[in-house]
Amino acid sequence: MAEKILVTGGAGYIGSHSVLELIEAGYEPVVIDNFHNAIRGSNGLPESLIRVQEIVGKKIEFVELDLLDRAGLNSLFLKHKFSAVIHFAGLKAVGESVKKPLLYYKVNLIGTIQLLEVMNSHGVKKIVFSSSATVYGDPKYLPLDEKHPVGECTNPYGKTKYFLEQIIQDQCKAEGEWKAILLRYFNPVGAHVSGRFGEDPQGIPNNLMPYVSQVAVGRFKHLNVFGNDYNTPDGTGVRDYIHIVDLAKGHIAALKKLHASNGCKIYNLGTGVGYSVLQMVVAMEKASGKKVPYKMAPRREGDVATCYADPTVAAADLGWKAEYGLDRMCEDLWRWQSLNPRGFSKDS
Ligand code: UFG
Repeated sequence: MAEKILVTGGAGYIGSHSVLELIEAGYEPVVIDNFHNAIRGSNGLPESLIRVQEIVGKKIEFVELDLLDRAGLNSLFLKHKFSAVIHFAGLKAVGESVKKPLLYYKVNLIGTIQLLEVMNSHGVKKIVFSSSATVYGDPKYLPLDEKHPVGECTNPYGKTKYFLEQIIQDQCKAEGEWKAILLRYFNPVGAHVSGRFGEDPQGIPNNLMPYVSQVAVGRFKHLNVFGNDYNTPDGTGVRDYIHIVDLAKGHIAALKKLHASNGCKIYNLGTGVGYSVLQMVVAMEKASGKKVPYKMAPRREGDVATCYADPTVAAADLGWKAEYGLDRMCEDLWRWQSLNPRGFSKDS
């Protein structure tokens, strides 16, 4: 029988791509999501998962549930025998977290602690957790390996990721049966090759590539480049962009490892290669055949100049490495964006 995996936040960008990979790898995901960032489809299901269902040709079990709803979580764990949890759910907008710290601490910290408690009381003691390269703060050296110091985060969102890493590690130390893998994501971009589902930020995108693709599709006139006086080859910020499908596959590798490992392990999910903002603009112009006009703007507070991963530990331990290059990331992003200019809400 297929292993049942609880996927929190499974209707979101990383979640939905991971749900597809889970099904293709023979797992049975049960998805929970509170819908705060997901578009509801005609039958009440999130549109992202409806499209994943179309692609895999299978029904996906989905429950609308917030992690702060303890009773709801309890009944879910009574109904299903999960072998592990992949925990994506949480708030993730850096700027918003500065304005609403209490909200971020409540949702991300209390929501996760409640999930861990309910897991514990039902004897489910394996978790893969969505962390972020943001825990490294301003890099003291590059590439960033997992031993780089963590915790000097400049915003509440980043701090929640750091705190949760500590909390999960402490729980693994306290109870020997617990097994956890913390995945530190670099910058996921792109979409599933079908062009049927992808990232659908609500309102003005905070992140570079959704913004760039929305300029290419004509929703915005130009991109603001946040700073061109960094100590980088062309003065603009450098990041480690990773194809979302590669990132999703990292979770399957982590799940497999989880069963065979002990305690808490930490892995970077990145490519090891950094590209500047302007290189990303050129790559998107090439993939889309559209012009992406841009204007230089002041630096964005809290941004670092350069950030890229040392992905060798994930390769050695998980047998996972990113396979798709920059051209493919942009081609797949463009397919999704051009087929769905308004995301999930009003396409076709
Ligand atoms: N950028 C622009 N213009 C924009 C948006 C971004 O020039 O409109 C630049 C940024 O200044 C930065 C680069 O593009 O140099 C990437 O910015 P993103 O916002 O796409 O990504 P960040 O690296 O800032 O942040 C991402 C995630 C965070 C996570 C962090 C971890 O959004 O959640 O990576 O390093 F914490």
